[in-house]
Amino acid sequence: MKPPLKIAVAGLGTVGAGTLQLLERQADRLALRADRRIVVTAVSARDRRRDRGADLSAVRWYEDAAAMAADPEIDVVVELIGGAEGIARQVVETALAQKKNVVTANKALMAEHGTALAVEAEAQGVALAFEAAVAGGIPIIKTLREGLAGNRVSRVYGILNGTCNYILTTMREGGRDFAEVLAEAQKLGYAEADPSFDIDGIDAAHKLAILASVAFGRPVDHAGVYTEGIRHVSRLDIDFAEELGYRIKLLGIARLTENGLEQRVHPCMVPRATPIAAVEGVFNGVVAEGDFVGRVVLEGRGAGAFPTASAVVADLVDIAAGRHVAPFGVPAAALENLPGAPMERHQGAYYIRLMVLDQPGVIADVAAALRDQSVSMESMIQRGRAPGEAVPIVLTTHVTVEAAMQRALAAIAKQATVLEPPRMIRIEDF
Ligand SMILES: NC(=O)c1ccc[n+]([C@@H]2O[C@H](COP(=O)([O-])OP(=O)(O)OC[C@H]3O[C@@H](n4cnc5c(N)ncnc54)[C@H](OP(=O)(O)O)[C@@H]3O)[C@@H](O)[C@H]2O)c1
Repeated sequence: MKPPLKIAVAGLGTVGAGTLQLLERQADRLALRADRRIVVTAVSARDRRRDRGADLSAVRWYEDAAAMAADPEIDVVVELIGGAEGIARQVVETALAQKKNVVTANKALMAEHGTALAVEAEAQGVALAFEAAVAGGIPIIKTLREGLAGNRVSRVYGILNGTCNYILTTMREGGRDFAEVLAEAQKLGYAEADPSFDIDGIDAAHKLAILASVAFGRPVDHAGVYTEGIRHVSRLDIDFAEELGYRIKLLGIARLTENGLEQRVHPCMVPRATPIAAVEGVFNGVVAEGDFVGRVVLEGRGAGAFPTASAVVADLVDIAAGRHVAPFGVPAAALENLPGAPMERHQGAYYIRLMVLDQPGVIADVAAALRDQSVSMESMIQRGRAPGEAVPIVLTTHVTVEAAMQRALAAIAKQATVLEPPRMIRIEDF
């Protein structure tokens, strides 16, 4: 057996403590798989007295995680603190500068600085591994980068945020409102006290930008991700979606189009019979489509101590075994600057819900606004009759261009009989 791989772990919270426990419990199995032992040599967190569920008596403690990253005895620095800037970035940059391999679960850091960090890792001849940063325990980075290396990927999409998926699933199953389910998710620990990172789609956008980079061999472009969250998804829309044969999911989608690479995160209506519609609750799911393989579907836990530790440790085993690939699958210098497709040119079908005054001529006015923008209607539902009162009208369209749809919606919103801002959800055709 080769000499042990000495690792330092920065951050001993949910993921860090889970990683220590996994390394302890699976030590013999991992040693066989890597042909050497993986030994935690140093750790750093804020509170030294806190129990981390693992024996740290023989492990060096560092108050300063960046100093630990420079420790000459360490082979690999595992960054599990979080945040795109500050100490997490400092730890990773210090480790790379000292020619140490890095494993991180930090999607914010990789989304903001992934390309520059990959360039540095490559220049130093070390690994930069981030399997845990996207979809937790699902091995999607390795799947795209290595398992599907023989393919040209045309589309990758998925449910990348378990908090949003839990909220949408619970709203549908219980016929409950967004605010009530969010409050419950916070109580259960599925949503943060400040939930905006999750429910406004920012976390999913970070992960999508990383996925798109690996799938399409382009620099990480987080700023180029069109992002909408789930705050406006209502119970009414969820019920109508069911009636139309769809389910509403917050998806991250990256696909090659004639206008360039689309990267978008927003609520979607997906046909109920598709695999992604069946991914429920806190689970994540990712689908990749390649020219030779066809469709590949992965589902699993996208967060939590042990699923995320599973991904961190897979990266450690690769490094221990000497398996080393370019972080994004191709040399950093070969990452291709594919143009981003502007959202205004997106083409797809749409679901629109209006609250209108129930009076003659309303539907004709709405239809005229759509016709003026060459948007063709596919179906319409009008529920009940309540003359002189508000009623919902639901429309679905044939494939149309986003800019035309937005212009039609703006015109509809101005009509005196339309009582609330129109709600629009894009329909995905998988
Ligand atoms: N939680 C998940 O399910 C999950 C899933 C996928 C990816 N991730 C990513 O994994 C990373 C860690 O997430 P987490 O949920 O484990 O976070 P967490 O529970 O908040 O843990 C953060 C850890 O960092 C430590 N820390 C904070 N400031 C520090 C500093 N200046 N020096 C040294 N240590 C410091 C904290 O120390 P104390 O414990 O002493 O306060 C804590 O142990 C993030 O990038 C996150 O996005 C998390």
